[in-house]
Amino acid sequence: MNIVIIGTGYVGLPVGIGFAELGNKVVCVDVDEIKINNLRNGKLTIYENGLKELLVKNLSKNNICFDISYDSIKNADIVIVAVGTPQSDIDNSVDLNFIYSSIKEIAKKLDNSYKVIAIKSTVPIGTCDKIESLLNNENIDVISLPEFLREGYALEDFFSPDRIVVGSNSKKANDLIMELYSSFNKDKLLFVDRKSAELIKYASNSFLAMKIHFINEMANLCEKANLNIDDISKGIGLDSRIGAKFLNPGPGYGGSCFPKDTLALQTIAKNYGVNLSLLNATIDGNNRRFIDIANNVCNFVKHIKSPTLAIYGLSFKKGTDDCRYSPSINIILNILKACDLIVKVYDPLAIDNAKKILGDKVLYFNDKYSCLKDSDLLVILTEWEEFKYLDFDILYNNMKGRTIYDCRNILCTTDSRFNIFKVGSGSFS
Ligand code: UGA
Repeated sequence: MNIVIIGTGYVGLPVGIGFAELGNKVVCVDVDEIKINNLRNGKLTIYENGLKELLVKNLSKNNICFDISYDSIKNADIVIVAVGTPQSDIDNSVDLNFIYSSIKEIAKKLDNSYKVIAIKSTVPIGTCDKIESLLNNENIDVISLPEFLREGYALEDFFSPDRIVVGSNSKKANDLIMELYSSFNKDKLLFVDRKSAELIKYASNSFLAMKIHFINEMANLCEKANLNIDDISKGIGLDSRIGAKFLNPGPGYGGSCFPKDTLALQTIAKNYGVNLSLLNATIDGNNRRFIDIANNVCNFVKHIKSPTLAIYGLSFKKGTDDCRYSPSINIILNILKACDLIVKVYDPLAIDNAKKILGDKVLYFNDKYSCLKDSDLLVILTEWEEFKYLDFDILYNNMKGRTIYDCRNILCTTDSRFNIFKVGSGSFS
């Protein structure tokens, strides 16, 4: 099948490379010429596990190519739109400018041949309807094809999805999608109407965000009741109706999706006159969590003269270099606002992206142990595997203080020379 993907970000790129790996002919289009040139040469502009190898493989098989022009639309069976839908600058609504500008470009290249335009970007209820009336072309079917892949696991999620939601009002489009996913188990496909597919995406991300907020609140309770949140997570997660996933307490959820999509759903519901009280509490609670953790840190250092803080982890979760709405960055900014101290930071992948936000407010280190020198406190904010087993002798010889605040409950080793505080067991505050 001939597939054109519009947008080569964290969604468009893995999806394009995934379909190329399945033997389709894929053209990925992006307005960013530098990015396109890099991709043509097998160079990724984002970090995603295993993606580079598949890119190079499919470039050499001529299954994938990259372009700034929309010319390839003419030969496409399906055009997948995967451009960003950020939060508007003005309010919490969704900025659809990238969607509409790409639809305008697509429209210029349409002829009389049948094509499906699949909207993979996360868009509010009714956006596909609007796109269809803008295109006003009876040879085109517009469908909603929301994406559920996670950064860091994008290929795994692409090749082994829990479900493939297809929002479509057309039998012809459904047949084409069945062919596109013919190598997948048929039971994975869920056909619904377009608006429902658009809402399923927001509802899924919001539900997961709620689950995280719930377990973070249980962690707060465990700290006061002197219980261990890990036991509570295990105990409730073993109920198959609840499920064990997304019950890891931490510094709050972040990333380019949950914060934006929860706010968008809140706004969408408001526009329909519906109050989503659970979602409202989730959004407020998650924002409060960043401040609470920052205050805990400031309380700890307030009696120390010229305190130095070491931070492990800057990306919004492990396995990615993405710092967009990262809890770690948010907490660091709150700490810097609330107290006077030196902050030293380390992350295995995300330093370059973090610098774009934090600038010279903190000191950056490429080595986790040099970052600790003279620090009074170590705070772990991203759950990288390399933080699981630290060499406590090196910590002992480098740190001034003997306290670790493990906000991801990742540390597997302990050492009696150190006070280790975890989220949801014992109280750091
Ligand atoms: C999320 C969804 O999981 C994907 O299904 C969806 O496709 C994607 O958004 C999107 O809309 O494009 P992602 O943003 O990559 O994927 O990140 P997640 O793995 O879902 O994690 C989100 C945040 O929740 C992170 O800050 C993570 O650390 C936090 N989290 C996750 C927890 O604090 N505890 C958990 O148990 C799980």
